[in-house]
Formats: sequence, C-alpha cells, structure tokens
Amino acid sequence: GAAELGPYRHYMQKEIFEQPRAIADTLEGLQGIAPELFDGAPRHGQPGAAAWRVFKEIDSVLILACGTSYYSGCAAKYWLESIAAIPTQVEVASEYRYRTSVPNPRTLVVTISQSGETADTLAALRHAQGLGMRHTLTVCNVATSAMVRECQLAYVTRAGVEIGVASTKAFTTQLAGLFLLTLALAQAKGRLSEESEEQYLKAMRHLPAALQAVLALEPQVISWAEDFAKMENALFLGRGIHYPIALEGALKLKEISYIHAEAYPAGELKHGPLALVTSSMPVVTVAPNDELLEKLKSNMQEVRARGGVLYVLADARTNIESSEGVHVIRMPEHYGLLSPLLHVVPLQLLAYHTACARGTDVDKPRNLAKSVTVE
Ligand code: G6P
Repeated sequence: GAAELGPYRHYMQKEIFEQPRAIADTLEGLQGIAPELFDGAPRHGQPGAAAWRVFKEIDSVLILACGTSYYSGCAAKYWLESIAAIPTQVEVASEYRYRTSVPNPRTLVVTISQSGETADTLAALRHAQGLGMRHTLTVCNVATSAMVRECQLAYVTRAGVEIGVASTKAFTTQLAGLFLLTLALAQAKGRLSEESEEQYLKAMRHLPAALQAVLALEPQVISWAEDFAKMENALFLGRGIHYPIALEGALKLKEISYIHAEAYPAGELKHGPLALVTSSMPVVTVAPNDELLEKLKSNMQEVRARGGVLYVLADARTNIESSEGVHVIRMPEHYGLLSPLLHVVPLQLLAYHTACARGTDVDKPRNLAKSVTVE
C-alpha cells in the first residue's frame, strides 16, 4: 500500500533507491574472503569447509540463469576470468537444459536467481546434476527457496523482498555476491594477494556511498527520459564488462516502457545496427574509462555521422563533453572493476522515468510475471 511506498510512486522506484541499503545489508559484517560466506542457509558440519574443498577442486565455472539474473552472470564472467583466471561459461537456463553439452565434473555450476524458484533455472540445475556435475552454488535472494535447498553451496543476497516485476536491487546485490565469489575462487587458487584482497574489499565497502552519489543523478536522467518517451526504438552500446550492462539497460526499457530496445557490443555496430541509426533511434552508450574508451569514442562518431543522437553515461575520468546531438551524464567517480554496479543505476532510472512518462503499469508490465515457476 501507499504507506509502504513512502515518498515513492512505484515499488520499482523504491527498490532502485533501496540499492545502497541492499548492498550494505548484503555485505554486512564482511571482514575478508572467507569460505563461510558461501554456506548460505545454516548447514551441518564445520562452517565453510565444503566451500573451501569445492573451490580448490574446480577448474571452471558454468553459470545458469534467466532474465536479469542471466545478465549479472554475463558480467561476472569478466571478473572470473580476469581476476580468478577461471574459464567461465554463461548460459540461458532454458537453452542449456535442452541441448547436448559436454559435462565436466570439475566445473562449479553457479545458478543465479532472485526468487530461487524459476522453473527453467531449477531444471537446468537438475540437468547439470544429472550429468554428474555435483559442485553447485547458487547466488540467490531467498534463503528458503528450492534453489538454495538443492545447491551444495549458497551465497544469499539480502536485497529484501523485490516487488517490481523488473528486477533492480536483486541485480546489483547479485553482482556483489558474484564479485565476492570471484575473490574467493581467486584466493583458493592462490591468485589473490592480501594487498589486492584489501583493496577490493575497501572498494566494496564504499559501494553504498558510491551508489548514493549515482542516485543523485536522477534529475538529469529524467530529462533524458522526456526524449525517450517519444521514441519507439533505442539502441544500447557497451564494451567489455559494460556490454552486459547495456543488455540490462535495454531489457529494463523494453519490459516496462514497451519501447523496442536492443543492446550491442559497440564494436559490432558496423556489422548491422548502424543501418538502423537515424535521428529517431537514440543511442545510449555506457562509456567507462577503460582501455576500450578510445575505440568506443570512434563508435560514437560513427553514430553522429549518421545523424544519430547519443546519450552517454560517461565515467568520471573521461573527457567526453555534451555537444550537438551528444547528451552526457557524468558519473560521480571512477570505480574500476566494480563500475558495472554503478553504471546500471542510471539505466534503471531511465527505464523507470520513460515508462512513467508513457503511463505504463511500471510495477506490473503487461504479459510478464515476477517469478516464472512454470516452463
Ligand atoms: C522473470 C522476472 C525477471 C527475472 C527473471 C529471472 O522474467 O520478470 O525480473 O530476472 O524472471 O528470475 P529469477 O527469480 O530466477 O532471478
């Protein structure tokens, strides 16, 4: 009811603004990368012992999930390969369960799910188990769910109940859990120095404050949303670990505003989507300050040259400025490897305010369900 919503118009908006709290709760009491973090619901035996054994034994990761949870898995792949040097595959659960794949008993199967009840993700887990893969871990928001019960290990996020059909705070808390999983695996493999562990943990503890600063960009995002509300199509570009963030931005926009949106890794622009660029196809670009920035800048020029209008989420350390046809929102600070957690927030707000401007049912978009417990 209205009382629960407080100052917010919709649950989605409330949940977007709860993210600093959700991350703080999820990381509460975080002292270091201990295997007990992955015990999930209380189990028998010595805390963390099972997790440690599994982390030492596995040689690869297979992530299975649906929807927004699948995109957090896509982002985690970059961390798992770059920080922990563990070969990682990410697969949509409903595809994995129905294809012939090559099982590896030394793979850690990681399911990601807000509800822990998504039928396809549960079926994919059982399929993997049936193929002899017994090392399973879930990153899940519901401690009492089937997913947590059926996996050997669990990292339970503390986003709290999520009501809006379009997932927001569950996504960022999943990313936090997946980052910790990456550090734990790196540590088990002897690939994490104490110094880097301390630096990463420090950056994680600062996340709630960093998220708060990003939420303060809302007025600027509202002015973008006024333009988007008049469009029927939008393109989202990202590179590297921000490509999954572009995918999530496009998903949010289509789910709740019913604007057709697609995401592309920016380097693929010339292989197709450039043909669609006109002044009525806004192009959102996630532009972090990383090694791909110069390349991204040239992708942006390709869009401008075709009359496309750019909406750029620029990292604090980039010198991209607003100009004719280029609207820039600058992020408050540079956040290195954790930057996807911050860049997704303005995209959530963009979808939210665009949907509000179009008058759609934000918390219950047509044809969609919060939790899909049937196939
Ligand atoms: C539905 C929801 C999405 C969610 C997906 C996976 O499609 O509308 O927001 O990302 O299911 O749900 P899960 O609970 O497994 O994360």
